[in-house]
Amino acid sequence: MEREGPRSASSAPPSSLRWEILRGAFLARSTPPSSPHASSQVDRKIISRRTSSHFNMIPRHFISENFSGALDVPLEVRHSDSKRDISVLYKLPVMTAHSLVLTQRMENEVDLKDFEISNQFNIDNTGLLCCWPSEDILAHFCLKNKDIFSGKKVIELGSGYGLAGLAIAAGTDAREVVISDGNPQVVDYLQLNIDTNIRSFGDKKVKAMTLHWDQKLDSCMLSSFDAIVASDCTFFKEFHEALALTVKSLLKNSERSTAILLSPRRGDSLDKFLVKVEEIGMRSEVVENYDPAVWQRHLMFLSGEDKSWPNYDEDHFYPLLVKLSFGDPTEAPFLQTLPGN
Ligand SMILES: C[S@@+](CC[C@H](N)C(=O)[O-])C[C@H]1O[C@@H](n2cnc3c(N)ncnc32)[C@H](O)[C@@H]1O
Repeated sequence: MEREGPRSASSAPPSSLRWEILRGAFLARSTPPSSPHASSQVDRKIISRRTSSHFNMIPRHFISENFSGALDVPLEVRHSDSKRDISVLYKLPVMTAHSLVLTQRMENEVDLKDFEISNQFNIDNTGLLCCWPSEDILAHFCLKNKDIFSGKKVIELGSGYGLAGLAIAAGTDAREVVISDGNPQVVDYLQLNIDTNIRSFGDKKVKAMTLHWDQKLDSCMLSSFDAIVASDCTFFKEFHEALALTVKSLLKNSERSTAILLSPRRGDSLDKFLVKVEEIGMRSEVVENYDPAVWQRHLMFLSGEDKSWPNYDEDHFYPLLVKLSFGDPTEAPFLQTLPGN
């Protein structure tokens, strides 16, 4: 029963997927062990374990309600009021950066209201389900290559809980960071997460924004970003063109600007997205091995040497690095520090 998150998203209409995820969430919480649904509950646990597996490039710890601030985390706001939320501490592997504390839903906590909002805004709620493995890698990649953000204006698209955007804000010398998602509920979490970690950002302008790729962009945003980052956002074929056009509209029309996407291949989904990119006149480059540590973990999951991710499936979980730009992505000066060039 492959039903969680973006995994099956490309093959069914969005509304039926939303209801399938909702049904799954209700079954997982309400089915007694002896009921006919008990075996699907077991399947679900296996799937849940799989999606909650991570590359763990940014070490994380769940923190309890009586977390007292003994950790060196300068927080303004520590907890949301909701019983279904958890706080997660992400230890950024950068000397100068503080750790980040993010409020997230407990994994797979979705309810009827979430689906009403999804339908109302024509958006999925995969961003509420968890922080996906690609986001962890994107945050790591951005911190490891932090020089490429120096003095730049950056936006994260489809950010979910925004780990990568927040890591750029806390751990690089970016000038301004906008963290965006098309789901207004996700943006509420983003705003809380920005408020919580505000003291880690120094003088940088950091803001959350509701940005649906189908929406008309504010004229002040057009051609204004030096860099765009996004993770696991190419799985919905119905939004391929809108996402590609959003990237093209937001990015400064310069050889020096670029978008960095981390995307698992997910069947033909990534390839189809890249066709759209070409159709709208942008250039792309795909790099498979862009970071030695990530590559090493990928190989260990694949071989089974690392057993922490049973049934690891590279097509769905190993994100490829996709660079989009107006000129030749391999020649853009902004990208010259990236591995693979
Ligand atoms: C699989 S989640 C990835 C979230 C996050 N980047 C991560 O990797 O944890 C896809 C995200 O894209 C957002 N999204 C999907 N379609 C969108 C659209 N048309 N416009 C803006 N955001 C969208 C969802 O709300 C969700 O947060």
